[in-house]
This record gives sequence, C-alpha cells and structure tokens, in this order.
Amino acid sequence: MEVNPALVTTKNRLLVKLCIGEISPHIDSFSQLFYQELFRLDIHLKTVFSGNVVFLNRKFISMLATFKNVKHLEAIEESVEKMGERHALQYGAQIKHFPTLKQALLFALKKKLGERFHAELEAVWNEVFDDVAAIMERAMARIDPEKIRQIIPDKINCDVGLYEEVGGEAIIHRVHQRFYDAIFDEPWLEKFFYGKSKEVLVGSGLNL
Ligand code: HEM
Repeated sequence: MEVNPALVTTKNRLLVKLCIGEISPHIDSFSQLFYQELFRLDIHLKTVFSGNVVFLNRKFISMLATFKNVKHLEAIEESVEKMGERHALQYGAQIKHFPTLKQALLFALKKKLGERFHAELEAVWNEVFDDVAAIMERAMARIDPEKIRQIIPDKINCDVGLYEEVGGEAIIHRVHQRFYDAIFDEPWLEKFFYGKSKEVLVGSGLNL
C-alpha cells in the first residue's frame, strides 16, 4: 500500500507536539539542558541569547511553541518568514546557527526522554525542525546584509573573552554556588528569594 507523504508529515508534526506536551511539566530543567549544550557547542551564542535564566527560559518556550503549532505549517508560512526576518534583523541570529541550535535541542531531548527518544523519533524531530528552519532561513537569506550588520553590534553585551579569562563556567558556577548558599542560609535574605529554586539561580547567567 502506498503511504501518502502528506499524512506522514502530519503524523510527524503531531508526534512532535505530543513530545513537547510530555516535556512541558519539566520545561525549566529542559531549557537549562538545551542552553548548557548550546553554549558548550558555541560560546559566542551567549551574545545572541542574552538575559537571565528567566528570560532565556521564556525564549526557549517561545521557540518550542512554534514546533508545537506546526500542524499546518504551510498555512502559517508567511508569519514564519516574518519570524525569520526578526531573527536576522533584531536578534542577531544567522543561518549558520540553525544546525547548532538543532543539535542542542536534540541533545536536550535525548537527555530528558532517555530511551523514549529513539532513532525514529529523532528523525521526526530532525524533519520538523528542518521544515521550520528552511522557511526562516529562506527569509533571512533575502535580507540585505548591510541592514544586519547595523543591528548586531548592539546585541553584543557579553564579553566572551572576559568570561573565559576568569575561568569560564566552572569558576563562575562555584562563585554562584557559594553566593546563593550564603543567601539561602540567612533566613532574612532567603525571604527575598521565596519560591525560587536555588539550583536554577546558581545556573543563571552561566552557560546555564
Ligand atoms: C527553527 C528554529 C527556530 C525557531 C522555531 C525559533 C522561534 C523563536 C520564537 C517564536 C521566538 C520568540 C520571538 C519571536 O517570535 O520573534 C524566538 C526568539 C529568539 N530566538 Fe529563535 N527560533 C529558532 C531559531 C533560532 C536561532 C538559530 C537563533 C540564533 C542562534 C535564535 C535566537 C533567538 C533569540 C535570541 C530570541 C529572543 C529574542 C528576544 O526576545 O530578544 N532562534 N525564536
């Protein structure tokens, strides 16, 4: 029996949606895994993904929402193109960043879902990611490079050289750990951080 490719695509997009639903209750730790791997793969991406852990998590959730809603990707093509333009013009994203981002995303999925993230599901994620990325990349490729260059320097607010000079993630993590240990040991100060996870705060501003 011949399989209708459109049905396969729809099935794959639904699988991705289900997968995101499964991860949703653990979104913060999943987001951390993603950024840890992303910045391990390319430390310079810290200049693109700026902000504290709360902002980073929000950005990550927005990205995942796109994959959750791609059931009718073709119908929302125009808005995905616009999103690609925003990425190039406002966020400092480049076409070469997409494979790194995908690698980090697949890594986080593998870590989080373990054996449930089997080869077939990985192939499905690859396909859905590539379908969305292709539309964004097409729109990005059309943009006048002069316009992009004018905007990127404003986005660079992380001194990668300094980060590495002071000892990188390992040292900063120890500093954060000691700082928040002291805060959480002090009942008066702890009140200001009520409801916050010490673990998440320790990871904030780091490679996560
Ligand atoms: C298929 C891949 C991607 C999808 C679906 C995606 C989706 C999104 C969405 C929906 C947002 C929320 C803001 C908006 O709608 O414009 C966002 C924000 C962002 N994305 Fe992406 N993105 C992708 C790839 C990338 C890549 C490759 C980079 C660069 C390495 C990137 C960097 C960012 C940044 C920095 C923001 C936050 C912008 C801000 O609020 O300042 N994204 N992304």
